[in-house]
Amino acid sequence: MTGDEKRIHPHLVVSRKESIVTLRIDREDALGAMNAEIMEKMGVFARDLAADHTVRVLVITGTGRGFVAGADITGYQNVSQVEFDRFQRLSRRTFDTIASLPQISICAVNGYALGGGLELALCCDFILINNKTKVGLPEIKLGLLPGGGGTQRLPRLVGPMRAKEMILTGRMVPAEEAVSLGIALAAYEPGELMPRAIEFATSLADQAGVALAEGKRVIDDGIETSLAAGLTLEQRVLGTLFATHDGKEGIAAFVEKRDPDFTGT
Ligand code: COA
Repeated sequence: MTGDEKRIHPHLVVSRKESIVTLRIDREDALGAMNAEIMEKMGVFARDLAADHTVRVLVITGTGRGFVAGADITGYQNVSQVEFDRFQRLSRRTFDTIASLPQISICAVNGYALGGGLELALCCDFILINNKTKVGLPEIKLGLLPGGGGTQRLPRLVGPMRAKEMILTGRMVPAEEAVSLGIALAAYEPGELMPRAIEFATSLADQAGVALAEGKRVIDDGIETSLAAGLTLEQRVLGTLFATHDGKEGIAAFVEKRDPDFTGT
């Protein structure tokens, strides 16, 4: 753990650099597998983050050769139906909170992202990946199916046929293939992953804050609606941005041939 890292749970470590917050899952001996306590704490962290307007970008990563190898399978054994269902509802709440964060989220997939690990990554706006690792939804091999959004978010990203191939065979997809399928934006050498993730996060954090958050929202909401409703939303958002300080400042800076001084208002 480096000096500026704060442990918020035995398996969750948070650090901050200006307006960029990094959440690191730290459970190397179980390849980052998530149990109910980790899921609960991650949900609390995400709800607090959503209310923190000083944070622009969230980076989520893991430790060692696992990002998150899924739900903790050992915790699935000998639990009642009620407890199993409770864990699924908890995952839903945590993952929905992360997916709807006003901040931009980047998942830096350092190692295996399987089951709930890939589903967590799919809640983020961007996925960058270690080029030596693999992702997948292997739940079918347990006689189950994904329950953290995999059957819904993956097909929206790669189309139903490719999603069915991955979900119904449980195949682990190598990083470079994940990039070509559109699951990840880019793959990097293991040692390059975090520096590139932070560099990308910084390039996002430097943008006008209101436009950044609204850009994410208009795309995410637009995908779930009709084209006409999406276009109306787009125009309404643009009109609102024109009235912001940063909108005026960006135009003035261009005309005056100088760098804009965005304030996030
Ligand atoms: N839940 C709990 N523990 C897990 C886990 C999970 N989802 N995934 C891995 N682990 C644990 C292993 O039990 C092992 O613990 P041990 O050292 O105490 O035996 C440790 O992490 C290392 O895993 P191991 O299987 O020995 O490593 P590997 O390199 O041979 O294989 C994987 C790596 C990821 C292919 C393999 O661990 C795996 O298939 N994991 C389950 C993935 C899955 O089905 N996820 C969906 C869950 S719903």
